[in-house]
Amino acid sequence: MATKVVIGAQWGDEGKGKIIDILAQQSEVVVRSQGGNNAGHTVEANGEQYKLHLTPSGILNADTLCIIGNGVVLDPAVLLGELDMLQGRGISADNLKIDARAHIIFPYHRELDGLSEIARGKGDIGTTKKGIGPAYMDKAERSGIRMCDLMNTELFIEKVRANVELKNTIIEKVYGGTGVDADGIIEEYLGYAQRLKQYVTDTTVLLYAAIKAGKRVLFEGAQGTLLDLDLGTYPYVTSSHPISGGVCVGTGIGPTMIDECIGVVKAYTTRVGKGPFPTELFDETGDQIREKGNEYGTTTGRPRRCGWFDAVIVKYAVRTSGLTSIVVNKIDTLGDIDRLKICVGYKKGSETMTEFPPSLEELAVCEPVYEEMDGWDGDIGHIRKYEDLPENAKKYIERIEQICDVKVGMIGVGPGREQNIIKP
Ligand code: GDP
Ligand code: IMO
Ligand code: MG
Repeated sequence: MATKVVIGAQWGDEGKGKIIDILAQQSEVVVRSQGGNNAGHTVEANGEQYKLHLTPSGILNADTLCIIGNGVVLDPAVLLGELDMLQGRGISADNLKIDARAHIIFPYHRELDGLSEIARGKGDIGTTKKGIGPAYMDKAERSGIRMCDLMNTELFIEKVRANVELKNTIIEKVYGGTGVDADGIIEEYLGYAQRLKQYVTDTTVLLYAAIKAGKRVLFEGAQGTLLDLDLGTYPYVTSSHPISGGVCVGTGIGPTMIDECIGVVKAYTTRVGKGPFPTELFDETGDQIREKGNEYGTTTGRPRRCGWFDAVIVKYAVRTSGLTSIVVNKIDTLGDIDRLKICVGYKKGSETMTEFPPSLEELAVCEPVYEEMDGWDGDIGHIRKYEDLPENAKKYIERIEQICDVKVGMIGVGPGREQNIIKP
């Protein structure tokens, strides 16, 4: 199949970067469609680790065209820093293109992200404070500044001045903060424009041509299903659309142009930031998973909250993104746990629910209903064939397939490119 969408099917950090890097080796184009540098995608290749926030994870393959689509909110300083880092490690960004419609993150977005979180007090979302929400707010409010504006100096200066005036009023009068300096921003960003202009184009045209020509195109999701603005655990979500439907609006393709939708999950569940998490573990097993799985945020370094695999969530992702298969990563992390649990439903009073509820208040009082299974001992990071996995690991995977009603296509047994098993 030529076009594949890869999305997170939990709360993000499922190991999408690793899977994109693997699939990119057989792809001609890799495209990011939403989010910004709130994402942190880790790729381990040839003994080196790369942490990418904005650059598509296909960048390690020199022959793969990498596109930052119109739906991404782009912080130019972060992108240029990443390109410098890659160049310093011998990786060229000549194969990168940025859509002219992508919205830009400014210092006032970051400032407002931080201030609004403080103002929310105990009800804060736990955002990455990268300015993502405020940048998408401007987009929806129709005052955002786009890459094509940055390429037009006069227009850019005019737009920045108008926005800074309004944002400073909000920063100072509403939040009691310190405003930002328009002249400083203009000078800084016009400097970025010089470096970025070589990459900026109408990527929707490139993408259409690539798909028409039958090229293999991979859409790299950021965040995950439960962080989706519409279908996630609102308001503890991000401000974009990580579900597969987000790919169409975020890259300018139609739904008929998508052949396959792959969901990435961990063999357990994690989440960073706040909000209900029914299978969260507060005991030693939770700590064991966090330490063994190195569950610390790629973007903020925060410890990730860890819990058992929640099949209700993954079933929800299968349904809302039309997943054709899933990848189960980090099964190696579950080694040496006597009894494993899979959440198959939620109990609310005397009622048992098997579908993920829309209301957070309802979710917060849900008690997970578990199925238990025996675990396995020892390290499985060296295994490359499905039949060589411990019997109980295979049973665990096959039970996930049954409950979530989706095929498991691949299994991750380590962070490396090669630590991957194709499931027959
Ligand atoms: P992403 O945001 O979905 O790309 O995921 P992150 O990179 O934020 O987090 C996933 C982490 O798990 C990274 O440190 C990966 O290197 C690591 N990882 C991915 N797959 C596996 C796996 O199968 N086993 C282990 N042990 N680590 C993995
Ligand atoms: P990747 O692509 C996990 C979470 C934040 C917070 C909420 C809103 O690496 O899977 P935002 O800064 O987006 O307004 O924060 O969303 N969040 C992520 N959690 N992985 C991510 O990306 C995330 N991007 C945002 O922690 O709870
Ligand atoms: Mg991540």
